[in-house]
Amino acid sequence: MKKITVVDLAKMKEEGKKIPVLTAYDFATAAILDDAGVPVLLVGDSAGMVESGYDTTLPVTVDEIIYHTRAVARGRKNALVVADMPFGSYQASIDDARRNAVRLIKEGGAEAVKLEGGRRTAEAVRAIASMDVPVMGHVGLTPQSVHRMGGYRVQGKGRTEAEEILEDALAIEDAGAFSIVIEGVPAQLAREITERLSIPTIGIGAGPDCDGQVLVVNDMLGLTGNKVPKFVKRYADLRNIIFLAATEYVKDVEGGAFPSKDHSY
Ligand code: KIV
Repeated sequence: MKKITVVDLAKMKEEGKKIPVLTAYDFATAAILDDAGVPVLLVGDSAGMVESGYDTTLPVTVDEIIYHTRAVARGRKNALVVADMPFGSYQASIDDARRNAVRLIKEGGAEAVKLEGGRRTAEAVRAIASMDVPVMGHVGLTPQSVHRMGGYRVQGKGRTEAEEILEDALAIEDAGAFSIVIEGVPAQLAREITERLSIPTIGIGAGPDCDGQVLVVNDMLGLTGNKVPKFVKRYADLRNIIFLAATEYVKDVEGGAFPSKDHSY
């Protein structure tokens, strides 16, 4: 396989090839996902919830994203690495947005950054893209807006709200984003946005008609327990595999079965 760039993603949309994206937060998982041919690894601020145990993504810092991004960048050979800009790293000022995007590229080793919001953050997208840093937008259910939304709810159900989200997506494309995540909206709206935009759309909880799909890797591997959103498909039950391995290890150590002669010098 060859190294994936943002140019390849544009070509995939043009050719009607679907774009699989997964989140990744550590070296080992990134290497496995890369070997499996996942073309885009997103170091999402979901790391704060699934790796660090926060209730929301809001406490995540730029330093934390840099830590995870470095590990992912070291683990992958071919995949494009996109680093999320955490809450507060691009909203307060355009200078902040520029500086923090540069940190994710320079210190984290990311090849692109992602930030949430539509028209409200289009100026930040434009500023970052103008430094030749590829930007992925994110509209619809934007987890950093959890308090405004009153929880993690499907967005764009009514026509007015749907039109607002379409306007947001168009603003992000116009600002120079190379791609956009559409999260938690009715499938019909995601389809309409995908048809209207020339940049690839990556859906999560947005139906089958986006140009690509993204899932939080811990959710699809079954590491996050039973409370996952409806849109998650479980591809493995790693929680149970790890649980069984750990209980067997405890039994072996307590009973003296490990280490055996085979595991001793
Ligand atoms: O933080 C994240 O993992 C994300 C994806 C779910 C799109 O933003």
